Amino acid sequence: MKTLLVTISKGGVGKTMCTCQLARHARSLGLRVLVIDFDDQVNASNALERKYTENDVVATRLGQTATELLLRYSETDLGSIPEFALVAGDGALVREFVEFARTTDPGQVHSRMYMAQANFAAFLGDIAPHFDLCIIDSPPAADIRISVSLMEGDAVLSPIQLSQECIEGIAETLSGQRGILRIKASTNPELQFLGFLPNMVESTPKQREALREIADNVGEFLLRNENEELVFLPRRAAFADAQEKGTALANLAKTNTAAREAWAITKPIFTLILERLGLTPKLRQLDASRKIQKIESQALGVNPDDVLGATADEGAGNESVASRS
Ligand SMILES: Nc1ncnc2c1ncn2[C@@H]1O[C@H](COP(=O)(O)OP(=O)(O)OP(=O)(O)O)[C@@H](O)[C@H]1O
Ligand SMILES: [Mg+2]
Repeated sequence: MKTLLVTISKGGVGKTMCTCQLARHARSLGLRVLVIDFDDQVNASNALERKYTENDVVATRLGQTATELLLRYSETDLGSIPEFALVAGDGALVREFVEFARTTDPGQVHSRMYMAQANFAAFLGDIAPHFDLCIIDSPPAADIRISVSLMEGDAVLSPIQLSQECIEGIAETLSGQRGILRIKASTNPELQFLGFLPNMVESTPKQREALREIADNVGEFLLRNENEELVFLPRRAAFADAQEKGTALANLAKTNTAAREAWAITKPIFTLILERLGLTPKLRQLDASRKIQKIESQALGVNPDDVLGATADEGAGNESVASRS
C-alpha cells in the first residue's frame, strides 16, 4: 500500500477535489483504495458518500472515525474491509488535538501526540495488506494530523493556487516547523514529495506573475511530467460539479463536453501521480487480468460487457469491474 498525503497550508485550493477525484479514478482502474479524512469540515467524506449514477461507487466507512483512530485505534473495531473505503471525518479532531494542545499541560499533550502517532502507525500497518493506495485529505493547517501523516506516509502532493496568498502556504508546507522537508530530514527519509500541483489555473497576468515567483523560489518542487514540463489543472466548473454530484470527472465526461475537456487534461496528471507512487506494475496486472476475463467470457459466448461492465477507462468507478480484480 502506498500512502499519499494531500496537503498545503492554504484553504480552498483543491486538496479535497484532488483526493476524491484521484481516489475515484484509482478505484475505477481496479486499485483497492482507502481515503482518510483528517479534516473536520468532512468534505471528502461527504463527497465520497454521494453517488450520481449507477456507475459511481460510494466509499464504505470503516468502523472507526478519524478521531477514534488517533485516540483509541482498535483493529477489531474496523469491521469488514471493503475495496473502496473511508475513514470518515467526525468534526472532533480540532477539539481533541489542536484545542487540547492549547489548554492542557505539555506532558499530557506530548503523551497524546505520541499515542496518536503510534495508533496511526499501527493502523497503517494493519490495513496495508488490504489496499493498494491510501489517500489522506488534510485541513489547511500544519498540526498533528499533518505531522503523523508525514511521519508515517510514503508521499505528498500539494495542490496550489497561483496567487500571492498561496506563496506563504507553500513556504510553510515545505519548510515550516512541521514542513515536508523538515520531517523528511528528521524522521521519514523515505518520504517522497511529488510536488506542488497548480490548480484552478487561468491564463491571467496575475497568475502568470505568481507562477514566475513560485518557479523562481521553489521551481524544483513543482510537479513535472516525464518531459520535465510543468503540469497543472485548469479552473473548470466540471471539477466542482463532479465533486458536488459525487461522481468521477470521467463519468461526467461521457455526456458533457466541458467535463471531457477537463478530464483530458486531468487524466494524464493522475496517471503521472499513480506512476510516481510506483503503482504502474499493479495497474498493468489489473489491466492484463481484465483482458483475460474478457477473452474467457467471449469464449464462453457471454457478452463481455455484461460480465465486465464498461472498460476501466470508460467506466470510472464501475464496481463490477473493480471488485473482480
Ligand atoms: N480546478 C478546479 N476548477 C474549478 N473548481 C475547482 C477546481 N478544483 C477545485 N474546485 C472547487 O473549488 C472548491 C474548493 O476546492 P476543495 O474543497 O477541493 O479545496 P480544499 O483545498 O480542500 O479546501 P479546504 O482547505 O477548505 O479543505 C470546491 O468547490 C471544489 O469543487
Ligand atoms: Mg478540503
